[in-house]
Amino acid sequence: MKQIDFKYRFIPSPLQQHLSDNSDKAYGSRDNQSDTLTLLLLHGTGGNEDNLIQVGQMISPSASLLSPRGKVLENGMPRFFKRLAEGVFDIEDLKHRTRELADFVKAASNIYSFDLNKTIAVGFSNGANIAASLLLSYPETIIGAILFRAMVPFIPNSLIDLSDKNVLLSAGMFDPIVSESQTQSLFDILEKSRANVTLKWQQSGHNLTELDILDAKEWLSKNIQ
Ligand code: MLT
Repeated sequence: MKQIDFKYRFIPSPLQQHLSDNSDKAYGSRDNQSDTLTLLLLHGTGGNEDNLIQVGQMISPSASLLSPRGKVLENGMPRFFKRLAEGVFDIEDLKHRTRELADFVKAASNIYSFDLNKTIAVGFSNGANIAASLLLSYPETIIGAILFRAMVPFIPNSLIDLSDKNVLLSAGMFDPIVSESQTQSLFDILEKSRANVTLKWQQSGHNLTELDILDAKEWLSKNIQ
């Protein structure tokens, strides 16, 4: 399929795996997959499709996982879009890559028969930034997002209605890359778009901590399903 030109991993939910192991139903049939959550895992700069698998399994042990590898290389390090400097994004590339990612998610949902209305992006750093861009540009591809250390990907020309979306922003108090005002601006954009947005401050820097994961797990159980 044309849009599936990302390197990626798809791990079906353990429950669905069990059902398909124990029945004649073909694995991945629409009946099998459509009622479970799918986490779209988006790694940070220098990561790959393996990095967030464990994080995804900890946040939601019963979810299916879709984990693509960013196609842009910066000094050999995979990313989801180009940047001109740290925190300064190549907006044209960001738009183009966001569209590619949206096409990929839609194509994968057809192949693996998962429901976009039950798909949550889980992004860290660069992955959180493209997840925010996906939410603002192609909101039909996800029902919510868990954004670890996200920045404002771009300032939208006009606000879209995100009133059916749930978003967790998990920010680091001592993050040297994402300032408090960046986090607040993203929160304001999402809130003005009427998303149900929760902002959680962690006592950490840019790195992901165990508390990020525990808070994400709790937030997911309260806000999704
Ligand atoms: C980005 O480029 O997306 C942000 O600066 C975060 C990072 O990848 O370091």
